[in-house]
Amino acid sequence: MAIFSKKKDEELTLPEKLPEHVAFIMDGNGRWAKKRGLPRAFGHREGAKNFRKIVRHCKDIGLKCISFYAFSTENWCRPKEEVDALMKLFSDYLDDIHELLTEKTRMIFLGDKSVFPDYLREKMLKVEEETAPYDEMFILIAVNYGGRDELARAAKLLAQKAVAGEIRPEDIDEKAVAGELYTKGYPDVDLMIRPSGELRLSNFLIWQCAYAEFYFTNILWPDFTPDELDKALIDFAARQRRFGGV
Ligand code: FPP
Repeated sequence: MAIFSKKKDEELTLPEKLPEHVAFIMDGNGRWAKKRGLPRAFGHREGAKNFRKIVRHCKDIGLKCISFYAFSTENWCRPKEEVDALMKLFSDYLDDIHELLTEKTRMIFLGDKSVFPDYLREKMLKVEEETAPYDEMFILIAVNYGGRDELARAAKLLAQKAVAGEIRPEDIDEKAVAGELYTKGYPDVDLMIRPSGELRLSNFLIWQCAYAEFYFTNILWPDFTPDELDKALIDFAARQRRFGGV
């Protein structure tokens, strides 16, 4: 395994073994804007630009599955102007999916899409439908997503199946729960990356992160470069994962 070493301006050498699923909490957009005396929406615009840059890098280095926390169930309580700016960024991004199609990338949205305006929900459904045949790479975008909400929803779906006689309560195990999550069929998170200095999960993929490794950095999301991602991957490769064993 190649181990991280870098002198100034030298190329980072990526490890051979990359995590299968890397999750990103795109945090720090507001602070990025504030530091420059700009409205928060400017920070999100830079964050969205960086999202595209990081997705491109993930593709170039061959990551199989990546997920992003774009909008939580709690984010609706932000000022309307900020929420509108975020919706516009999603919408613009969704208009531009030819790259996903040519690169055989599947995109799905995690979360309850029913609350979004029709035009936006329809764009999300269209992207999911058009990219459904592809499996070279998976991009999971969490919108109106909360980890607890996802687990409560899974419990409800399993209870409904039990009442309908489709399953027996004693058959409900971890596999059954995982099968009712938005991430059904996708691997658990191997590496969770949170920039901006906050050291918490904030209700993102709480089930799927049971054995994830965490990587925190003080860099704000708009400044999180592909090189920073490489550093996280090198750090990850040097960790010993025991999954509860010895
Ligand atoms: C958290 O930073 C960031 C968000 C709530 C929104 C993240 C969304 C994007 C970067 C847009 C991504 C868009 C696409 C196209 C998927 P914050 O606002 O809480 O930052 P702060 O902690 O510095 O205030």
